[in-house]
Amino acid sequence: MCGIVGYVGNKQALDVVLEGLRRLEYRGYDSAGVALAVDGTLATAKRSGKLANLEKTLAETPLPASTTGLGHTRWATHGPPTDRNAHPHLDTAGRVGVVHNGIIENFAQLRSELEDSGVAFESDTDTEVVSHLLAAEFGSPGVGHDLAEAMRRVCRRLEGAFTLVAMHSDVPDAVVAARRNSPLVVGLGDGENFLASDVSAFIGHTREALEVGDGQVVEITRDGVTVTDFAGRECQPGRYHVDWDASAAEKGGFDHFMLKEIAEQPKAVADTLLGRIDEAGRLHLDEMRLSDDELRDVDKIIVIACGTAFHAGLVAKYAIEHWTRVPCEVELASEFRYRDPIVDRQTLVLAISQSGETMDTLMAVRHAREQGARVLAISNTNGATIPRESDAVLYTRAGPEVAVASTKAHLTQLVACYLVALYLGQLRGTKWGDEIRWVVRELAELPAKVEHVLQTVQPVRDLAASLRDKGSVLFIGRHVGYPVALEGALKLKELAYMHAEGFAAGELKHGPIALIEPGVPVVVIVPSPRGRDVLHDKVVSNIQEIRARGALTVVIAEEGDDAVKPYADHLVTLPECPTLLQPVLATVPLQVFAAEMARLRGFDVDQPRNLAKSVTVE
Ligand code: G6P
Repeated sequence: MCGIVGYVGNKQALDVVLEGLRRLEYRGYDSAGVALAVDGTLATAKRSGKLANLEKTLAETPLPASTTGLGHTRWATHGPPTDRNAHPHLDTAGRVGVVHNGIIENFAQLRSELEDSGVAFESDTDTEVVSHLLAAEFGSPGVGHDLAEAMRRVCRRLEGAFTLVAMHSDVPDAVVAARRNSPLVVGLGDGENFLASDVSAFIGHTREALEVGDGQVVEITRDGVTVTDFAGRECQPGRYHVDWDASAAEKGGFDHFMLKEIAEQPKAVADTLLGRIDEAGRLHLDEMRLSDDELRDVDKIIVIACGTAFHAGLVAKYAIEHWTRVPCEVELASEFRYRDPIVDRQTLVLAISQSGETMDTLMAVRHAREQGARVLAISNTNGATIPRESDAVLYTRAGPEVAVASTKAHLTQLVACYLVALYLGQLRGTKWGDEIRWVVRELAELPAKVEHVLQTVQPVRDLAASLRDKGSVLFIGRHVGYPVALEGALKLKELAYMHAEGFAAGELKHGPIALIEPGVPVVVIVPSPRGRDVLHDKVVSNIQEIRARGALTVVIAEEGDDAVKPYADHLVTLPECPTLLQPVLATVPLQVFAAEMARLRGFDVDQPRNLAKSVTVE
């Protein structure tokens, strides 16, 4: 959602803060702003729109030098994305500056109390109440000039989810932050310290970080970091080393992060497999922290996730049920807890989240744990809230993903789901050892096959050029091809702003076929002809049905699948692969198609309108 940065050190705070905001802009880009401590006052600048607008303003009207500052990049919740609503928000005297990620649910009540006491508000945001409340606490009896104590007192009055970062002009060498249900990490430097929504913001300066727990307040100065809970009791945060460097968070010669991340997929898939399979083809997932007995005890699996991660979950269901014979449901995290799901100690909940911070998924995880379920997180972000709050975690190793539309993280989520499913099959004896070894060999070949798809994908770009003016694109698939169709449609919607829908190929005749008229492009994901013949043949029949009605067919099928050739206006081929694993390959041309379509139609590939990479509100 929003991205926040705080800095105290010896460098120019503005440079450090802007660099951090550039890296966090994926979290929201409705507006950006900064505040610096300057000679007993706060100097601020803020602008609606992308960070580039703020940078232009700062180039025209520079701020004075300072070594203490904070910054924000916004995904609007309360109040439209205007200059006025851009963070930081100040108190009336302009001495307190606050940036915020999340939603303060009781802000209306707090605002009316403050207005009754004579405070005039400058913005429509929920955040501004915090600036006024901090100003009122600061200097009061028992608080004095202790900004962290003022923050603790304010936090005790707030409801909802928030990360707050604040400064006061009377304490120019400190920045204070607080978190409840929103992300916050501390970067530990030498004579400097950092606060941010995630480590990418300060990775150019330090790779040493502290995890700030929920319900905690942090104060950073040049030489120290103090962490307490909201009651003021000292806390010992966990320290960790970030195992990637600044270059991983740069574009590396590509025009867009998304293109770089698509190109990194062979490595991301290989890294996610690394060390988890031994030479004998057995899986080792000891890192998961769930005992074999606990996993044998499981009688139901529920996968919860949002967006692209949800599509990985849909694929997981096919693999889990086929390899483990344990019933598996897949549910959108935002729906899960509101339907009173049947969950108990024998339920394993698989929570898939690239960021590990998605609020819908986090709330579903908490609900599941309250009901006694064991939760296994699949996440790409070390130390994020969802993996921390889960009983077990399997990290995908995609490296930092910056483009809002998820690509390499998605492919690694698929691989992680296969690993979990196979591991359960191995443990519970529902798969013979040689069957597992066969799948493992196929998994190990995926990086090279993804690379092959990338090398041969140019016709997909040409296809995008020929379809760029179409009003609508449909996607169909059966079995695991169905989630791939949903993902293909989602990518096209979010990036190219085209009407796109994914359907189960068999459902077409029950309604959606009415949408087919001459020239409508329909992308069909065809399962392997070497797998279950029925499945393959049924999809070939579906292609004929839509073609008979004038659809323009774009067929994604295995190399050598001659049966589809007569019905394909455009044929995209994939290397041979078992149908269950095919989503790892079939998704790639759809990613390229959507990115190219966005580029051709003149849209921002990395930062599509209205979206944010990590949505930390429900
Ligand atoms: C947002 C992003 C999607 C992403 C979803 C889940 O909506 O725009 O691309 O798939 O969140 O994110 P997560 O971090 O939980 O995987």
